[in-house]
Amino acid sequence: MNTAELPFGLNGKLALITGGGSGIGLASARCFVEAGARVVLTGRREEVLQQAVAELGPMASYIVNDVTNRAGLPALVQEIEQTLGAIDILVNNAGINMKKPALDVTDEDFDRILSTNLHAVFSLTRECARGMIARKSGSILMISSMAAYYGIDRVVAYGASKTALEGMIKILASEFSPHNVRINAIAPGFIETPMFLKAMGDDPDRLRRAMSRTPMARLGAPRDIGLAAVFLCSEAAAYITGVSLPVDGGNSIGF
Ligand code: NAI
Repeated sequence: MNTAELPFGLNGKLALITGGGSGIGLASARCFVEAGARVVLTGRREEVLQQAVAELGPMASYIVNDVTNRAGLPALVQEIEQTLGAIDILVNNAGINMKKPALDVTDEDFDRILSTNLHAVFSLTRECARGMIARKSGSILMISSMAAYYGIDRVVAYGASKTALEGMIKILASEFSPHNVRINAIAPGFIETPMFLKAMGDDPDRLRRAMSRTPMARLGAPRDIGLAAVFLCSEAAAYITGVSLPVDGGNSIGF
């Protein structure tokens, strides 16, 4: 038997991955394709998406889309479902970070982070869930963060947005479960991506602190998250909903 046909595979599924051109989104797309799924990537930068799709091959396509344009999200979902078929899996991966002391965070800063990391995530989840609920089948994934698990300084807006996602999965799991639609989160530890390198590049002390409480004593690879995403979206996780899975080399339990 081909592994794509095992309960851990995603044969025949269509997955929408936001922010799929780089980092965790791109690695997840790669893992989804290996598991037998078709993927549609969204993001703001066409050349980045073009390159990702060229690398992923014929199971992948892209649509240029800024998730913060919330009014356009119903049309995005409609376009995908009309041209590619029903969306079986949504991975709400697109996110932005901002590192600033809380007293320097303006209302505009705070709104900008929440707009991408929370408001757009809710709107797109709602629009994808409509079809999933009607079809009585679907799996939705949020990408949370250690910033929702414990107090990391200088990321007040980011941490608030990710903490809100942790609450949202519980509420939506209770509403969507009767319709066989599951919703979970992955809380990545410290994963080597463009976002991570930007946040840590000028801050060796922060990196040292992160590593000092990571028992596995290495940074995560984007693929570590992608493989866990495949599992949570597969039939192997059919009875798992409303949970946040740390994929963090032990960072969340490290001393
Ligand atoms: P990344 O910066 O490589 O990826 C984020 C992607 O989202 C980029 O492709 C970016 O263009 C896209 N994006 C941002 N705003 C968008 C918008 N308005 N519309 C469409 N796409 C947009 O960073 P990374 O690390 O791969 O982040 C992916 C997710 O993982 C984010 O939600 C992040 O908060 C989360 N995360 C990352 C961690 C890490 O250590 N790298 C740790 C915990 C969570």
